[in-house]
Amino acid sequence: MTETYFPISDRLPVLWHGGDYNPDQWLDRPDILEDDLRLMKEAGVNVVSLGIFAWSMLEPEEGRYDFDWMASVMDRLAENGVYVNLATPTGSRPAWMAQKYPEVRKVFANRTRDRFGERHNHCFTSPVYRDKARQINRRLAERFGKHPALVMWHISNEYRTVCHCDLCNEAFRAWLREKYGDIETLNKAWWNAFWSHRYTDFSQIESPGEGGMHTRNMLNIDWKRFCTHQTIEFFRNEIAPLKECTPEIPVTTNLMAFGPNDWNVRALARELDVVSWDAYPMWGIWPNQNVAADLAMQHDLHRGHAKGKPWLLMESTPSQSNWPPCSRLQPPGLLKTAGLQAVAHGSDSVMYFQWRAGRGGCEKFHGAIVDHTGTNQTRVFQEVAEIGRTLSDISEVAGSRIDSKVALIYDWENRWGIENSRRCAAGETNTQYPRICQDHYRGPFRQGVSVDVIGMEDDFAGYSLLIAPMLYTLLPGVAERIINFVEQGGTFVTTYFSGMCDENDQTFLGGFPGPLRNLLGLWAEEIDVLPSDRRNHLVMKDGALDGVSGSWEIDTLCELIHAESAEVLGTYGDDWYAGRPALTVNTHGRGKAYYIAGRMEIPFLETFYAKLLRDINAPRALDAPLPDGVAVSRRTNGREDFVFVMNFLDRPVGVELGQTTAFTCMETGESIAGKLDLPPYATAILRTSKQ
Ligand code: GLA
Ligand code: ZN
Repeated sequence: MTETYFPISDRLPVLWHGGDYNPDQWLDRPDILEDDLRLMKEAGVNVVSLGIFAWSMLEPEEGRYDFDWMASVMDRLAENGVYVNLATPTGSRPAWMAQKYPEVRKVFANRTRDRFGERHNHCFTSPVYRDKARQINRRLAERFGKHPALVMWHISNEYRTVCHCDLCNEAFRAWLREKYGDIETLNKAWWNAFWSHRYTDFSQIESPGEGGMHTRNMLNIDWKRFCTHQTIEFFRNEIAPLKECTPEIPVTTNLMAFGPNDWNVRALARELDVVSWDAYPMWGIWPNQNVAADLAMQHDLHRGHAKGKPWLLMESTPSQSNWPPCSRLQPPGLLKTAGLQAVAHGSDSVMYFQWRAGRGGCEKFHGAIVDHTGTNQTRVFQEVAEIGRTLSDISEVAGSRIDSKVALIYDWENRWGIENSRRCAAGETNTQYPRICQDHYRGPFRQGVSVDVIGMEDDFAGYSLLIAPMLYTLLPGVAERIINFVEQGGTFVTTYFSGMCDENDQTFLGGFPGPLRNLLGLWAEEIDVLPSDRRNHLVMKDGALDGVSGSWEIDTLCELIHAESAEVLGTYGDDWYAGRPALTVNTHGRGKAYYIAGRMEIPFLETFYAKLLRDINAPRALDAPLPDGVAVSRRTNGREDFVFVMNFLDRPVGVELGQTTAFTCMETGESIAGKLDLPPYATAILRTSKQ
């Protein structure tokens, strides 16, 4: 945890500022390309993502490559001090390829094949597509591998596809054969005696989809595991020629929030040299401080993917996105604070989609740094330019790290388990796992305590508090590692719907929460599902938990538990199970294990975690109470700390800094002690020697 990380690239060892650049749309307008260079300088852009979706311009006919336009763009960018994150073009493909080789087009779960068009819709097994991708990627690496502008490979774009074609099904069966060895082992793992679903041969198995098998939970889950494997194989195929020709150039691909859910994003992230993701929060639809809280968790999820190393905010909209049902303009200042929030959580960049709005196509009205006016006179351009200046003022932040004593488990395998559980007509529960994790994240977030969002198979060492909402699936060894974590003095928090199934989605026998039963000191017997307009309450026992008293709302799920060795801290307030335990703690070894039996309102979670964080003495970014709507985060390079104080409110706010020695504002050089006044939607970045 004390190791100091280094910037993303030695070639560009500062904070990156830039975005998606598609000059292939403007090759007949050299004046516009020249304007771009001038405006990039004004906006403080030091990097662009070039060539995303450029395949038909790079290989206009099969085997005829035209890279000259790209070479001249790259030369001009290099001459102007702009680096290039060069994309492989596989996010969409030329019409000639789709026409000549139908197998490159994906097949949907309903077994219809995609027609030509759109994007992100290839077959991830197709030998033709893999071969075509390798060929063009090799040529790009040969041509541009030594180019002075090249800093990174941007692999494809937002990998998200899965395919159900015959080739994919054949590969799926081969993967199952390899995993299970013989069909009887698979039948047992999938519980196929039920509904007469026993197979006698692997050839009988098909990928899940309507019109065929789609409720067999283990078919669904193994299919997602296969899709994870296949996506990684496709990725490795893409990067093979790049690694061969340019081993020193890092590779990334732009990931997306919690999605896709068809395969395990964390597993792909672990293949990347640098993690990056595209953030499109819905500002202005809910209170912005809540949007900021959810966004913070997603940033931390990607920092977790990067195992704590700096990552990149690859895309964000500089203005509106054109795809949400409602897209509010970002009020002045919010764009900067949102960008800096990513940096506050470990990003070494603020990047956007897109540099310049096209004249045609379906994204011509998507936010862009340069809009159709084509000048630097727009509000958006000027705000982006201001961000550019700030990133340059604080460039020492690049490569610094974030220390966390708190980890929260968000895990794809667990989500798949919950979604396939069909427990208590769990329509609600099915979709709530990400939401529930975000609710729990609010606790440390409100205290300015940093959280690593990790998977259940990641290391728990070094953390004092481990939060695992709805830990339904326990992969092999996970329960043992949690028990060991608590024995060694850790604090563990979990909830209803935990410890239910193993890696084959088969329930643990002998009482839930399965292998965590002794650790938590309770038996979870039944779950009541509340209609959406009904509430129960958690009634705290007097003095049971310092600072947490009174009655708190519970919605959706109330689990009925029996305390065995656990101490009851609070009970249900209503219904026929009033008085039965709803919140417990069990001491185990040197640590404690808490169990929250119902779905709690956020104010409870904030109060509850504030108490736990005091108990473990968790370091806070600022040692003072935070006003509602203000978020803080601290990065360190081991010698100095950089504290980001962000106001997500539309009004000014005063923030106590809670430290006797003065901070220095990194933008103005001013010395600040005591209280900081922040205008609406403003951020201050404060430097202080390491505490
Ligand atoms: C995604 C894509 C971009 C663009 C944006 C629009 O993130 O990667 O190409 O379509 O969405 O918001
Ligand atoms: Zn396929």
